[in-house]
Amino acid sequence: MQEASEELIQKFRSPAYPGSLFLSFEGIEGAGKSSQLKRTTEYLEKKGYRVLVLREPGGTTFGERLRKAILETSKDLHPLAEAHLFASARAQLLYEVIMKELEVAGTAIICDRYIDSSLAYQGIGRNLGFKTILTIHENFPLNLVPHLTFYFKIDVETSYSRQKMRNAPKDYFESQGSDFYQKLIDGYDKAAEMFPGRIKTIDGNREMGPIFEDVRSLLDQLILATSTSDQNA
Ligand SMILES: Nc1ncnc2c1ncn2[C@@H]1O[C@H](COP(=O)(O)OP(=O)(O)O)[C@@H](O)[C@H]1O
Ligand SMILES: [Mg+2]
Repeated sequence: MQEASEELIQKFRSPAYPGSLFLSFEGIEGAGKSSQLKRTTEYLEKKGYRVLVLREPGGTTFGERLRKAILETSKDLHPLAEAHLFASARAQLLYEVIMKELEVAGTAIICDRYIDSSLAYQGIGRNLGFKTILTIHENFPLNLVPHLTFYFKIDVETSYSRQKMRNAPKDYFESQGSDFYQKLIDGYDKAAEMFPGRIKTIDGNREMGPIFEDVRSLLDQLILATSTSDQNA
């Protein structure tokens, strides 16, 4: 697997829309993304933000069609087909929704999964490597990444026990074995190492309350930093 060069990594940047936030939530199935997303939405709305939650893949008519095609497929897709389908849905989501909405000051866009899911799932889970995934995303607007990404890190056992609790039918990715889940965790760890400023790893094995305290504290820091830089602009 070829390593991504520093030059390639440097192509990724957060959008500069004053007063608006672009966030993503990451982690394997059962990590707590949906649960923490709900609390985060309430918190940001109380602070006066207009919050838009987007689901990856999906969020546009085109993206929802692709989501169905990917998640309901019973036959193995080639990893490159998977990677390009996700990137395609993401490009449309950026063009149709994210960039337009962030222009409105006071907007918070929260993506339930974003580019780091591609790095973990297709990059490591399906062995394409980070270089391939990042290269697919290197051009505008796919090179736009969130200001902050919350990575809820849980172990494979926690994922299984929470999935059992949820009792929903397994989809395309969920029906994989524990080796695959361990690869996803390794992929997320590697992504967090590569983008240390953006990706914050949060221990998701704990109870929901303390996990949200970490989210809230990081959000407060981001809000403070963005409002200070706006004043200086
Ligand atoms: N910190 C936690 N402790 C115990 N159970 C949790 C925790 N976070 C989430 N859950 C439960 O685990 C299941 C999966 O959580 P969810 O938020 O849907 O994860 P994800 O969206 O990452 O797949 C749900 O039933 C949820 O209530
Ligand atoms: Mg979820």
